[in-house]
Parts: sequence; C-alpha cells; structure tokens
Amino acid sequence: MTGMQPALEAIRARRSYSKVTPQAPTTTELQTLIAPLASVADHAALRPWRFIELRGDARDGLGFALAEAAAATRDTPMSADRELAHTAKFVSKAQRASLILAIVVSPRTHPKAPLWEQEAAASGAAHLLGLALHEAGWGSIWRSGPHTRSAPVHRAHRLAPEEYLLGWLYIGGIPGEEARPKFRRPLDLDRALTAL
Ligand SMILES: Cc1cc2nc3c(=O)[nH]c(=O)nc-3n(C[C@H](O)[C@H](O)[C@H](O)COP(=O)(O)O)c2cc1C
Repeated sequence: MTGMQPALEAIRARRSYSKVTPQAPTTTELQTLIAPLASVADHAALRPWRFIELRGDARDGLGFALAEAAAATRDTPMSADRELAHTAKFVSKAQRASLILAIVVSPRTHPKAPLWEQEAAASGAAHLLGLALHEAGWGSIWRSGPHTRSAPVHRAHRLAPEEYLLGWLYIGGIPGEEARPKFRRPLDLDRALTAL
C-alpha cells in the first residue's frame, strides 16, 4: 500500500497461518525477534512474560498433557482403546508445527502493577512477536484451548507456581498456496473508537 507507514503496513498485512511447513526459525533467529520486545509497554518494567520453545519430542509432552487434562474433565471414563485414540489425536495436533512457542505470564508481586496489567504486557509481547514473525517471513498462529491452564499442562511446561499460559504460537514456514492476503471484516470504526 503506497504511503502507509511501515509499522501500520506490517500490522495491516499480518495474518495467521493455521497450516505451516516444517521449516522453523532457529533459537538464534527467535532471539533476534524477541530482543526488540524490550519496548513493550510494561508497568514497572517487570518483563512479566517469557516464551518456551517446544520442538521435536517436547511437543509430544504437550499432547500428552492436554490428553491427561481432557481425561480429567470427563465424568465417565472412556474405554482404554478410545482413550488411546484420543491421546494420539492430541499428540498429532501438537505436531501441526515443528516449533511451538508457549506464551507464559510470569508475574511478580508489585505494589503498582497488579496481575491484570502484567497479563496485558505479556499479551502485548505475544502479539508483537506474531507480527515480527510475519515480517520475518514466518507463518504462525496463536492457539489456546480449554486445557491451557490445566495442572497437567502447567506441569509439562515446568512453570513456576505463579506462572500461567496465554496459549501457544504454532510457527513454521508459509505454505505457497496460503500466501495470499486474507480478507478480514473491516472494523466498525464508530464502535472501535468513541468519545465520552
Ligand atoms: C489468546 C488467543 C487464543 C487463540 N486461540 C485460538 C485457537 O485455539 N484456535 C484458533 O483457531 N484460533 C485461535 N486464536 C485466533 C487465531 O490466533 C487467529 O487470530 C485467527 O485464526 C484469525 O486469523 P488472523 O489472525 O489472520 O485474522 C486465538 C487468538 C488469541 C489472541
């Protein structure tokens, strides 16, 4: 788009990719994209967030944890066969990208920055990282689910007791046929911006 500021153009063009190729950024490349997030608005500069890479077999751990959490919510237990098939489904879902990045709220007790503000900062970091990944030519999608904050998932990520997840960025290469821009319903600006 001509005349648009680069940041605005990047925000406008960003899109999520539910399907990605097996290519993924290296840890060093991720660090390059995460380092600028030092600028995320952050009351008291607590940096109350972090990311955890899950690659290879580590993704199976996520699948098993999600399956365990789902099983724990069932009133009536499934047959062993069905339980196995269910677990396999969760494990295969965790293989939809070769890199999964867990988004962790890592809060601290602070007199001026309550938990909700720290979660807002963590959310901002994750949104900006999605944007940075897109600009760097990687596809990603932010996913969550009903078991995101379950005890098995918490354990599997080895989170500290006060930490919790905002979901995961599933990251990979952009498949050719998905490279076209995505139509989004335009914002209703009269609702998105009002005045008192
Ligand atoms: C906190 C959060 C959790 C999300 N969880 C899911 C999810 O589990 N599954 C999903 O398909 N999309 C999920 N989304 C939405 C996608 O990340 C994405 O925004 C959506 O597919 C629309 O695509 P777009 O970002 O290109 O407009 C989530 C978004 C956020 C912010």
